Amino acid sequence: MIITSQKDALREQIKTWRQEGQSIAFVPTMGNLHLGHLALVEKGRALADKVVTSIFVNPTQFDNAADLDAYPHTLQDDCQALQKQYCDLVFTPDVKAMYSDTTHTTRVSVPGISSLLEGASREGHFDGVSTIVTKLFNLVTPDMAIFGEKDFQQLMVVRQMVRELDFDIEIIGHPTQRDADGLALSSRNGYLTKEERAIASTLYATLTSIVEELRNGSQGFKDLAESASQTLNNSGFKTDYIEIRRQHDLLPATENDEEIVILAAAWLGKARLIDNIAVNLNIVN
Ligand code: PAF
Repeated sequence: MIITSQKDALREQIKTWRQEGQSIAFVPTMGNLHLGHLALVEKGRALADKVVTSIFVNPTQFDNAADLDAYPHTLQDDCQALQKQYCDLVFTPDVKAMYSDTTHTTRVSVPGISSLLEGASREGHFDGVSTIVTKLFNLVTPDMAIFGEKDFQQLMVVRQMVRELDFDIEIIGHPTQRDADGLALSSRNGYLTKEERAIASTLYATLTSIVEELRNGSQGFKDLAESASQTLNNSGFKTDYIEIRRQHDLLPATENDEEIVILAAAWLGKARLIDNIAVNLNIVN
């Protein structure tokens, strides 16, 4: 496995693979890898000849300096895990390489969708994501890129950006990986104390119970979300939002919508956890 922090070395290797006719799958990450990330690499392995993973804690998508400072850097462990997963190249640039100190003012923005939900809670977050993903796409020039569906809104922002900016890259969403009790795997789970971890699965359980209520014909979306938020708060969470939205544009769902997604973000101690379940109410599971 090749590990490089250098843009030129990355480009040279990509050029060589292209000349050999190899296809390339790309998995962008911020490191601190867990089985969810490794599942994305495995997916890439199944779909392309070569898999490139990037590890870069992107400062422009953090709205809070303390959150950025606290973000775990575990490069050695990450590279070991990627090697075992048969990743071919790990790109590990530093902030200077990606943003050339303070002179980098260009931003890529996907207005509308970027200001909802996560975007409303974390100002500028998706502009930071769109910008870094664009830069990484331009460097790696993959055939396909794989993103986890846990970040449902991020996946939508990236898909819209790729469509509208004519990137010739297939965007592949991969199902959320969960612990046995349902908790979605996330780098932020590492912030949970033992006691908090014991109640963290309530987030997924609460989303699941909304799905059940909807399948049983409940239509008061606002009341359902409100009572789910209460359940979370009573269990020790501080709910940021819990919303029933339309899958295609993330606007509030109405009783006529069938393809919906329930999205939640909630604080548990120092961890801000997010999760979602997308369902088609017309299809019985
Ligand atoms: O999902 C993430 O880890 C990040 O938002 C991404 C896509 C790597 C961009 O920094």
